Amino acid sequence: MKDREIKIKYKELEYSDLIEIDKNLVEKAFGAAKNAYAPYSNFRVGAAVLLDDGVIVIGNNQENAAYPSGLCAERVALFYANANYPNSVVDSIVIVVIDQNDRIVPQTISPCGSCRQVIAETEMRYKNDIRILLVSEKHVLEFSSISDLLPLSFNQQDLGIIKQ
Ligand code: THU
Repeated sequence: MKDREIKIKYKELEYSDLIEIDKNLVEKAFGAAKNAYAPYSNFRVGAAVLLDDGVIVIGNNQENAAYPSGLCAERVALFYANANYPNSVVDSIVIVVIDQNDRIVPQTISPCGSCRQVIAETEMRYKNDIRILLVSEKHVLEFSSISDLLPLSFNQQDLGIIKQ
């Protein structure tokens, strides 16, 4: 038996440390969160995706009375980006959660497992690490790749181990 360890890396920033591009992405994600359709959870999430040509795509969570039919903000934004700009590389995604008073929540909220898996697929598709910014009232956590949020992810190569 061997004990193994995986370390993840991220930066903790103040909002004032952000460059203008990122402040703009936070604003866009914040605006998207306000338009979330979340009548069941009241948990409103906004995501802003930056493409390599500077285009910004937004998404927010879309809930449904049949709960599993809803979709998270991150996947709404990424699927829209991939559907409409299939030749643009995804550079960054910024995620914001707001409360009932339209204020960014005090604690960091990190993406669910399914959204991490979709971010991993998008990194693989465009062969490019995606920067992930998790925004809370006080801090911004910056990850330079999904590998720091989803180590040992299942990917395309894993499918290849089964002989057809
Ligand atoms: N949600 C997101 O949009 N993104 C996440 O990363 C976590 C959860 C949504 C899904 C659902 O509409 C609500 O938040 C509560 O889970």
